[in-house]
Amino acid sequence: MTLAEILPSLRTSLRAPLEEVWPATASWGAHGDLFVGGVGLAEVAARYGTPTYLLDETDVRTHCRDYLAAFGRDNVAYTAKALLTRGLARWVAEEGLRLYVGSAGELRVALAAGFPADRIVLYGSAKTPEDLTAAYAAGVGAIVVESIGEITRLAATAPPGQRVLLRVIGATDPADGVDRRFGLRIASGDAAAAVARIVAQPRLNLVGLDCSVGHQVSRFNRYEHELHVVLDFLAAMRARHGVSTTEMNLGGGHAVAYSGGDPSLALAAFAGRIRGVLRLVAERHDLPVPRLTVSPGRAIVSRAGVTLYHVVSVTRDQEGRGLVAVDGGMTDCPSGALCGARHSAVLVGRPTSAPSVPTCVVGRHNDVDDVVVPTLALPSDIRPGDLLAVAGTGAYHHSRASNYHLVSRPPLLAVRDGRVNTLVRRESPEDLLRRDVDEPGQS
Ligand SMILES: Cc1ncc(COP(=O)(O)O)c(C=O)c1O
Repeated sequence: MTLAEILPSLRTSLRAPLEEVWPATASWGAHGDLFVGGVGLAEVAARYGTPTYLLDETDVRTHCRDYLAAFGRDNVAYTAKALLTRGLARWVAEEGLRLYVGSAGELRVALAAGFPADRIVLYGSAKTPEDLTAAYAAGVGAIVVESIGEITRLAATAPPGQRVLLRVIGATDPADGVDRRFGLRIASGDAAAAVARIVAQPRLNLVGLDCSVGHQVSRFNRYEHELHVVLDFLAAMRARHGVSTTEMNLGGGHAVAYSGGDPSLALAAFAGRIRGVLRLVAERHDLPVPRLTVSPGRAIVSRAGVTLYHVVSVTRDQEGRGLVAVDGGMTDCPSGALCGARHSAVLVGRPTSAPSVPTCVVGRHNDVDDVVVPTLALPSDIRPGDLLAVAGTGAYHHSRASNYHLVSRPPLLAVRDGRVNTLVRRESPEDLLRRDVDEPGQS
């Protein structure tokens, strides 16, 4: 008999320390339970079922504050496509961030939460007439222009004085392997042509430039190169058209870690370096230093999110590796299938001293792409009925969840100070049928 078996309390302390990819409030409790926001996850699973998304409010607010400390008030916007609910929009508004929305739907949710319209920016490479109409009606703070054709549309339909940013593509290095499709290329002359068109439109007020250098970017130099190219362009446009744009948005794309050892963007150092480059290049061109803004999505909410699953079956693949199938999968965790993200995950709700073995966590969708975590170490005694918590699921999980296999989407619960608050309830089979309006017998 091992010491851990004789002294059950010791088992808890034998759990490996949590990697820095879990919410800031996460900690092990008694009997192998994991606590987030002061709430035991075993109890959450018993009360709300699984799969279930949790969002640690404190963690989200901490990331908002870290960004404001690094870039200054009014210089940080949260990009809603990572995750948006009314509750989350309220936290973001209370913390003093602005909001980037990419559709009339995101705008509607933000406005329903009372997000001030003048602090919202509408962006998108293919805005629909509905997106624009909703933005005009709300009086959003700015619209990002992302194609030449859009300028004519905006000039004909926008309210007089509509503030716009121009999305440009600066440093294009094929070696980056980044698909930079959205925006107007500086190198091709498209961005200059767009500026000429915008300044000729009395209804449009060009207040800034906007760019985006990719996703999960951890190296500062990608942003630095972009800033150099874009500021050179701004100086040329100032000389040619007298434009004095005040905002320079460097987008988001800041890397977050999904499991220990993954690179992430060091925020304070990044902000310092980028501000230094901004000052230097602006001085070189004798330009007034524009206001540097950022619009992260993932980096604000990713780490705050945890998904709970029950294990449904445990088998082995042809190499003898454990295959743990859970009651969710690619419908609620698209990052595994779409981006190959390797989330950290732990067994929750019972102590174990079993050794950890390489395991693959798969979903319930009868699809070879249905992988939640391709490989991670889990206790060898994992069995059906066990509870599994997956870290780093705050961004692009709920917002990208689907009904593939007509599986209902999980609820999203906020946790804070020992309390649970439902942000989005679980989808019911009735919800699915409500959209299926075909009545039997009707042609
Ligand atoms: C314009 C813009 N800004 C910011 C983001 C946020 O990216 P991330 O969630 O990687 O920070 C996106 C995402 O595509 C984007 O299109």
